[in-house]
Amino acid sequence: MRWQQPQPSTWARFLGTGALVSLAIITFLVFEGRFSNDVTKYALKSSMIPPPKDGSFGRCANGTEKWEFVAGRDANNHGLSEEQCLAAFPKLFVEADKSVEGRKANLVKYEELDELVMEDGMFRALIYNGELYVVDYADMTYTQTRAKSTLSSLNRALQAVPDRHNIPNVEFVLSSDDFSNGKGPVWSYSKRDEDSTVWLMPDFGYWSWPEVKVGPYKEIRRRIAAVDDGEVAPDGSVTPGMSFQDKRKQLLWRGSVNTNHEIRGKLLKAVQGQSWGSVRVIDWDEENDVRFNLLPMEEHCRYMFLAHTEGRSFSGRGKYLLNCRSVVVSHKLVWREAHHAALIASGPDANFVEVERDFSDLHTKLEFLIDNPEAAERIANNTVRTFRDRYLTPAAESCYWRYLVRRYASACEFEPVLYHADKDGKRQMRGTPFESWILSGH
Ligand SMILES: *[C@@H]1O[C@H](CO)[C@@H](O)[C@H](O)[C@H]1NC(C)=O
Ligand SMILES: *[C@@H]1O[C@H](CO)[C@@H](O)[C@H](O)[C@H]1NC(C)=O
Repeated sequence: MRWQQPQPSTWARFLGTGALVSLAIITFLVFEGRFSNDVTKYALKSSMIPPPKDGSFGRCANGTEKWEFVAGRDANNHGLSEEQCLAAFPKLFVEADKSVEGRKANLVKYEELDELVMEDGMFRALIYNGELYVVDYADMTYTQTRAKSTLSSLNRALQAVPDRHNIPNVEFVLSSDDFSNGKGPVWSYSKRDEDSTVWLMPDFGYWSWPEVKVGPYKEIRRRIAAVDDGEVAPDGSVTPGMSFQDKRKQLLWRGSVNTNHEIRGKLLKAVQGQSWGSVRVIDWDEENDVRFNLLPMEEHCRYMFLAHTEGRSFSGRGKYLLNCRSVVVSHKLVWREAHHAALIASGPDANFVEVERDFSDLHTKLEFLIDNPEAAERIANNTVRTFRDRYLTPAAESCYWRYLVRRYASACEFEPVLYHADKDGKRQMRGTPFESWILSGH
């Protein structure tokens, strides 16, 4: 039997109207102080029956169902099948494939991992029966949250699939620094074309990036989409989204110049004195500076044009900018991330605007876009379709992790074991299970 709240009419049968009113007043006086705060912490369940899942399973001519990626339903699904991943993100795996190609005639040997010098931020880990173990790690004074984010993301991708025991056993080394020194088979957040030994992995921001006050990836995506598409609050009130043409017609950039003076300094110069420029330098070590100049990430999306610049290597911010319905203006990039293969610089499918590394053509291109707001809007729409609703979804991130593990395994001549004998001949597990490692102090 479920307990049911007596209906007002039941009470009314026992109490006269006057008595009911005073009861209400007394209740209010007695409980107001104690309960008022709680009222905003819950809402009554809506009696609405959830709408049916939309019909994204199209039918093939032979009557079978054809699966298609639908962002509204699948964007946060970390557990897409191998087949679904390939169908949804055909361009995502280019760099991983290149790495495999490069090792085909020269498979990765166990000794290569042993020979790697474990520099700051580096980790050695293994996946066994689809479970993650940490074998060794170097100093992570500066990369602690990144390392934990990355291992958590990888673990999430493994745990999300029911057939993870079919994921091959691998042992690997990853770096949670901005880039790897390019020696040996290291998994890294970013790579240049010449970094032929590096294996590209998703960056830490797909979990969370607290240092620049960007929280969990799904949460920042929600806040960004709320700016562009509007939002229905839990109480049912609707905040409309911002139309592209209402955005500020300026090129926005906020950040530190020190991480890449050559590129970022040239950007500052190129926008100097331009009414379409909104560029400010943030000194992350100065509390006041951060307070005055920091713009919450989702507020970036209120500007029509967003400048993207490389830092020490790739810029982790790029992902967030490409989530906005705005035009991302980027200099020619040398540091790759997995989703970069989906960037298109020209034609009807253009989803960003590319300028020279010295920004010499920035002025011309910006003025063209300001004079042709329809063209700018089409680019921004393509950005949303390609990145926010496809290649930069959490679903894509997890697909990439599993693909990387499988492809790396195919390029290894060895498979790790989980147990070995210590010097007394006792059986020892070679790594710490992720679940324990993440809870211990580092
Ligand atoms: C039905 O058609 C689809 C797409 O044309 C194809 O992938 C699938 O294998 C077909 N199924 C059968 C049972 O023939
Ligand atoms: C961009 O997308 C919005 C929302 O879907 C649409 O209303 C608008 O017409 C599109 N603009 C262009 C230029 O394609």
